[in-house]
Amino acid sequence: EKGGYEHYMRKEIHEQPTALRQALSGRIDLDRAGVDLDLEFPQGCLESLEEIQLVACGTSYYASQYAAQLLEEVADVRATVEIASEYEFDGGRDPWRTLVIAVTQSGETADTLGAIRRAAGAGARTLAVTNTLGSSVTREADDTLFIRAGPEIGVAATKTFVSQVATLALLAVDIGRGRGTLSTADARDLLGDLRGLPGAVQQVLDEEDRVLKAAREFRDSESFFFVGRRFGYPVALEGALKLKEISYDHAEGFAAGELKHGPLALVTDKTPVLAVLTDGTRAGETMNNVTEAQTRGAPAIGAVSAGLETGSLDIGLEVPNVGIFEPLVANVYFQLFAYHVANLKGRSIDKPRNLAKSVTVE
Ligand code: M6R
Repeated sequence: EKGGYEHYMRKEIHEQPTALRQALSGRIDLDRAGVDLDLEFPQGCLESLEEIQLVACGTSYYASQYAAQLLEEVADVRATVEIASEYEFDGGRDPWRTLVIAVTQSGETADTLGAIRRAAGAGARTLAVTNTLGSSVTREADDTLFIRAGPEIGVAATKTFVSQVATLALLAVDIGRGRGTLSTADARDLLGDLRGLPGAVQQVLDEEDRVLKAAREFRDSESFFFVGRRFGYPVALEGALKLKEISYDHAEGFAAGELKHGPLALVTDKTPVLAVLTDGTRAGETMNNVTEAQTRGAPAIGAVSAGLETGSLDIGLEVPNVGIFEPLVANVYFQLFAYHVANLKGRSIDKPRNLAKSVTVE
């Protein structure tokens, strides 16, 4: 049932183009530059929102960070993200003008369920974004949007991350069109990039051998640093989480600009830096930060937009051009890197020690 793959994780990484096509299927209407998400919110409700708050844990939290930036940029609506276990909803002035979105693959994460209950109790509208039909979160929330990734067995979330962001991007377009803050032309561009995403991810998957080579070269490093800006920042955090979760190596993600405010003290020739260097994420400045690490001996691996000139990297991995979604494609390189480092070390990839697929205690 692993379809010829040694691990579910690798199978699920390779299922991402299909998962994405499923997330987008039947939801995009290029003629009117809109989307159809079958949401049952009362007429005008999404248009009159003052704020969107996303709550989630782990990988879903990083997907939410990506999505919050999309919501602000695409729909021009104030969007904040909070770790579900830290979330308190104070009700605000008009709780019903606030939409609280619980982003959870399993739909069963206790911290996320607790957060959405607190929000609903205070009068906010609630939306569940989940992969799991009939899950607890679908019963708690006013409405549900399915990410349609198909079952994910590996404890490490992979295909559901990309499907969460793609689905929330559709929501951003829906809200932006509804509020009149997203023009027809911009919506078409964005939807075009979204439709290009499955093919772009496939191109990266076809480069797996290069990532395996990099994993062989750097597997014995002391620590791994992931850096990025803007949409590349949550991807850096996600890249580090994946690596530590399945390889048990120390890895940390940083906003690239923060390296020089402390972490640089840790950088040596045994701490590779993996960077998101894509268009629209201030790649030039990120590269300056990477160069500072290189000066201290750190090897640098960059996921770089096709056609973008960076300084010299030890390994450059090409990211096809899909606009605002390029960091999401860069993430696929990081998933493959984590997988191969862990596999070379013989780790229990699908069931890492101490972890469970869904965390049902607070
Ligand atoms: O099912 P959820 O999306 O609510 O799960 C949240 C986290 O527990 C989950 O993303 C976890 O961080 C993953 N194992 C990361 O790969």
